[in-house]
Amino acid sequence: MTKSDELRVLELEVVGDKMLPLQGANLVFGEGDVEAKVMCIGEAPGLREDQQGRPFVGRSGQLLDKLLGSIGWERGSVYITNIVKRRPPENRDPLPEEIAAYKPYLTRQINIVNPKIIVPLGRFAMNYFLPEGKISRDQGRMFHVEGRHVYPVFHPAAALRSTETLRQLEESFKRLPVELERMASSLVAHNSVHAQKSEDMQDHLF
Ligand code: URA
Repeated sequence: MTKSDELRVLELEVVGDKMLPLQGANLVFGEGDVEAKVMCIGEAPGLREDQQGRPFVGRSGQLLDKLLGSIGWERGSVYITNIVKRRPPENRDPLPEEIAAYKPYLTRQINIVNPKIIVPLGRFAMNYFLPEGKISRDQGRMFHVEGRHVYPVFHPAAALRSTETLRQLEESFKRLPVELERMASSLVAHNSVHAQKSEDMQDHLF
């Protein structure tokens, strides 16, 4: 099965799981490049997202597109989803039990896409990965969580309310390609150490 097939199967499971909370709203499963190196994960769909069944298509989404554009990335080159996949009424904060209910599906979605970096957008998405995290302190820093690189940033909605938050969000986005590059080169260095080691082993064997 291709990754797209696996994601389709997963989405159908979410559709079929009537025990999931927020059944009154539409499912916003996620979209983007299934081979993306970066997966952006927000909090929960808003009104626009609920209407269109797509993540980040309202004002926050427009800013997200702009931030991606500022580093030369098209929206379609990343994968975008949320920790909670249906809109909470009146855009209230998602409840812990709602986040927990969608968690097994998000875990599988992440494992299928298998991104190099997860970018949680905002406090709720960050706390999903880093329960003790504080967004103002930890945004723009790389963390290692259960074998994954997690790079939290401010939520675009917060940046729409504060120019200082916007400035920091823009800076954090600018460092994303650098972080990816750094990871790629440390992988190369790591591999060449391995190659050298196995050459040494061969020297030793022969
Ligand atoms: N805010 C989010 O956290 N997610 C969306 O999809 C849209 C707005």
